[in-house]
Amino acid sequence: VAPLRIALILVGFGHVGRRFVTLLQEMQPALAAIGVEPVIAGVTTARHGSVFSATGLDPARIADRLTGPGAGQASSAPFITDALARLRQADVEARVLVETTTLDVRTGQPAIDHVRAALAGGADVITANKGPVAFAYRGLSDEARRAGRAFLFEGAVMDGVPVFNLVRETMPGVAIRGFRGVVNSTTNFVLTALEQGEPFGDAVARMQEAGVAEADPSLDLDGWDAAAKAAALANVWLDADTTPLAVAREGISAATAARAIDARARGRRLKLVASGTGQGPEADIRVALVELASDDPLAMLDGQANAIEVDTWPLGRIVVTQRDGGLEKTAYALFADLMTLAQRAGIRSIDRSLQ
Ligand SMILES: NC(=O)c1ccc[n+]([C@@H]2O[C@H](COP(=O)([O-])OP(=O)(O)OC[C@H]3O[C@@H](n4cnc5c(N)ncnc54)[C@H](OP(=O)(O)O)[C@@H]3O)[C@@H](O)[C@H]2O)c1
Repeated sequence: VAPLRIALILVGFGHVGRRFVTLLQEMQPALAAIGVEPVIAGVTTARHGSVFSATGLDPARIADRLTGPGAGQASSAPFITDALARLRQADVEARVLVETTTLDVRTGQPAIDHVRAALAGGADVITANKGPVAFAYRGLSDEARRAGRAFLFEGAVMDGVPVFNLVRETMPGVAIRGFRGVVNSTTNFVLTALEQGEPFGDAVARMQEAGVAEADPSLDLDGWDAAAKAAALANVWLDADTTPLAVAREGISAATAARAIDARARGRRLKLVASGTGQGPEADIRVALVELASDDPLAMLDGQANAIEVDTWPLGRIVVTQRDGGLEKTAYALFADLMTLAQRAGIRSIDRSLQ
């Protein structure tokens, strides 16, 4: 049986986009085993230009072949629309947008436009970007359903550790009553360092040097990243139809040190907790500094570790912990989403052969 060729359009080719391309090569045996052959057909960026080939690009040469101005501050929707039209003309049936652009945390753009253009052009979407799911989940998932396409975003929260996939694929029919989690690595690392007496600025600088904190660390420290993740989780699990702007938000600063040290001295721990309870428009979604008892699973997280507790019926509370971060974990989230699409495409072709 010929392998299923899947044409990928990569929008964004930074840390995550590039690591995804090398991971695909590392995963070659796994891909071959299930008969899937991803082909990179197009790549576009903000400042480094674009490249397209319906027959596929040599992964090792993509960076050298990027030409032209790129999208700059504008949306890459025209590139996506054009690339997908060219793939349809070339009779390429399986088309996927891989969205890894930078997030504007106050609007969710440009990724929302990119997802829309892909769905309208007959592509499935996989993304590690929080913007679409945190700002526009309901609209985009409706558009995907109407178009008969998938909109998958495992990498938006806790890198490659399955959070959305875990619930969707392995917990059919459960009701979700709420969630709470430590979802931002930088703030957890800084809080852990503050407890041990390290100055705030030094701890933040260490996270920046390690490439974990954003270049503008206020996105992490002011709680924006956690608020975007809380909105994403609440949109998917609590049907909240909210945005990060509506999440009650607290961050950390040098002034937090005294609270963190005091809590530790009493055998407790101060954590930046993202949480959601309730359903729909009534859901209460927040990011707040919370003092936790030492035996709380969220209190045990040191350094960059993250965890989410999801409260379900009938399974009760389930905790997923991520002990190790790193780029290949986020790249793996995209890989896992791609495998989900491949499985669904396989099911679609079996359906067709039975008709
Ligand atoms: N890094 C992580 O560990 C991690 C973890 C989870 C989720 N994420 C999310 O994944 C996404 C990518 O992260 P990253 O670390 O790879 O960021 P990055 O290194 O800054 O790369 C972003 C890429 O997006 C491109 N871009 C920006 N605006 C664009 C536009 N309008 N059209 C086309 N391309 C555009 C940039 O182009 P230029 O190259 O020309 O600048 C760059 O290639 C972000 O949304 C981030 O929040 C990252």
